[in-house]
Amino acid sequence: MAQQDAAGGQEQALSALLHETRRFDPPPELAARANAQASIYEEAAADPAGWWAEQARRLDWETPFTEVLDWNLPDARWFYDGKLNASVNCVDRHVAAGKGDKVAFHWVGEPEGDTRTITYADLLEMVCKAANALTDLGVSAGDRVAIYMPMIPEAVVAMLACARIGAPHSVVFGGFSAEALSSRILDADCRTVITADGGYRRGAPSALKPHVDEALEQCPTVSTVLCVRRTGQEVEWTEGRDHWWHDVVDSASSTHEAAAFDAEHPLYLMYTSGTTAKPKGILHTTGGYLTHVAATHRLIFDVKPDEDVFWTAADIGWVTGHSYIVYGPLANGTTSVMYEGTPTAGGRDRWWRIVEDYKVTILYTAPTTIRTLMKWGEDLPAGHDLSSLRVLGSVGEPINPEAWMWYRKNVGRTRCPIVDTWWQTETGGILITPLPGITSTKPGAAMRPFPGISADVVDNDGRPVGNGEGGYLVITQPWPGMLRGIWGDHDRYVQTYWSRFPGMYFAGDGAKKDDDGDLWLLGRVDDVMNISGHRISTTEVEHALVGHPSVAEAAVVGASDETTGQAIVAFVTVKGNVAVEDESATEALVAELRQTVATTIGPIARPRQILLTPELPKTRSGKIMRRLLRDVAEHRELGDVTTLMDPTVVNMIGEKMREGEDET
Ligand code: PRX
Repeated sequence: MAQQDAAGGQEQALSALLHETRRFDPPPELAARANAQASIYEEAAADPAGWWAEQARRLDWETPFTEVLDWNLPDARWFYDGKLNASVNCVDRHVAAGKGDKVAFHWVGEPEGDTRTITYADLLEMVCKAANALTDLGVSAGDRVAIYMPMIPEAVVAMLACARIGAPHSVVFGGFSAEALSSRILDADCRTVITADGGYRRGAPSALKPHVDEALEQCPTVSTVLCVRRTGQEVEWTEGRDHWWHDVVDSASSTHEAAAFDAEHPLYLMYTSGTTAKPKGILHTTGGYLTHVAATHRLIFDVKPDEDVFWTAADIGWVTGHSYIVYGPLANGTTSVMYEGTPTAGGRDRWWRIVEDYKVTILYTAPTTIRTLMKWGEDLPAGHDLSSLRVLGSVGEPINPEAWMWYRKNVGRTRCPIVDTWWQTETGGILITPLPGITSTKPGAAMRPFPGISADVVDNDGRPVGNGEGGYLVITQPWPGMLRGIWGDHDRYVQTYWSRFPGMYFAGDGAKKDDDGDLWLLGRVDDVMNISGHRISTTEVEHALVGHPSVAEAAVVGASDETTGQAIVAFVTVKGNVAVEDESATEALVAELRQTVATTIGPIARPRQILLTPELPKTRSGKIMRRLLRDVAEHRELGDVTTLMDPTVVNMIGEKMREGEDET
């Protein structure tokens, strides 16, 4: 029951919408020379594993695979007797093919005019040096390396250098707190951390190294910190442990013979929030993952490496950055834009200037950003030459039809197809999406599974629903980019993804098949919130709140938000001995609590609103009634100020409590 709640609100809006759904056919000029032709779906469906093997053969294998798939539910091994090096596939092979002068990244720093152009030959040199430096610092194959960096080219270099020497990286988003960083370092037992003094964020330098120093107080086994100088901020230095990148990397040899690793060698870990307070270390391996991201990148964005300038406007601290800034585009030898900052830095038309300056042809971003750009009005994109754009992508959260239409009209000038791509940290790459040139699109629908992917929508008992019905999204066959487990916790892997519906991967999302059988994603059905496309667990935030000495109990919900999709609203009861008599005491405590969450998890998890309440609504069995709290958070005009929850709200909660006693 409770699982259906999250999707419930959106379903109503959806059914109203389905009556007037518009459909856009693929633009003929794009269709004529698209990378994927209509027959692709049937070809892949006839022999999915064989089709994926064909995609895998586009990579360079030092030892070609002869085995395609070993599926021992829920454990998959793809191309498992083959050997390859991910870094060689992303860099060396393009240089060897004579494309050393081709630009890999047009890097745009947040401060105006701070740009770098990095060719594939440059990238090769940088990656070789970094690989040699890491080896000299004692990192070897299998060692986990934490990366906590701003969006600078060295972050990509660090990832590729780790991949090159077979050391799985664990990139932690630079916006996470010292505490979040230390827990991730400890969970994966990383002994090396790569960071920078800081980065630029919203017009000012922001610090990173101090967070590393603080985190490492909890991590005594970390012996090496490699630090890039980005901002020139003063930093504390621990002799023997800390090394400047410009000292050890710049002086290292620029040639490096890369060893090949088994296809199933771990490539990286990426921590993501689940329904408990402890984030999960999602494990990705090499051959299947690289195959998946390269194929999806090539076919979904219709990338022509010799013509396109591809821009994924995301941070490499998230999976979108891993798959579609680093591994997918580089495996395909594409030119990408990499932008360090926020859309506002340097003026609200910053993005459109970047598109214009670099003649970006493919733009991939999140609905939250589209909604923000939409709020700023049509004049900004209209004032720039966006005629280079030909495909637009969306990812990370359901895109509302209004934002979709605005994107199409004002950015795509009604010319560019929009690919609404559904996937997750766990899936490694995109699984549900239209294909430009083939698939019609509908505003707000992710449409259909990518070729070679089997997905369905099932009811509570795991039975496929019919057209026009909603349920839970499941993936019914293994796919190359799928997670290989949760670091150090196989049981949790089985429990989280493979137990809800026997034999099927449970994604945690609600979905609906429309009358044509096309797929619409409706958001999470569990206690995971989606804030600006970032996954944050309600339990994690509650945990952070109850860590404060004044808090007795906390309940957190994700309430709809016009811009960020969802926003965090917390209901808190204080301990009996804590007096919050007047408004100013309340405000002070609320401010402190919001800060506690930011310090414990990171500023992205800072609640929009915290309400102090005398009690939390619970069922007789003591379960917090989140649905009710979500109602309160969404439907009541509570205002921005965080005050003691007013008695009418409490009354309402009381009333609804009585009505909803049977909720579980
Ligand atoms: O709820 C879905 C939502 O984002 C979740 C995955 O989050 P994360 O692992 O952080 O990866 C985000 C980037 C891939 C999913 O469970 N989500 C992602 N893409 C879409 C989406 N919801 C609706 N439509 C999408 N296109």
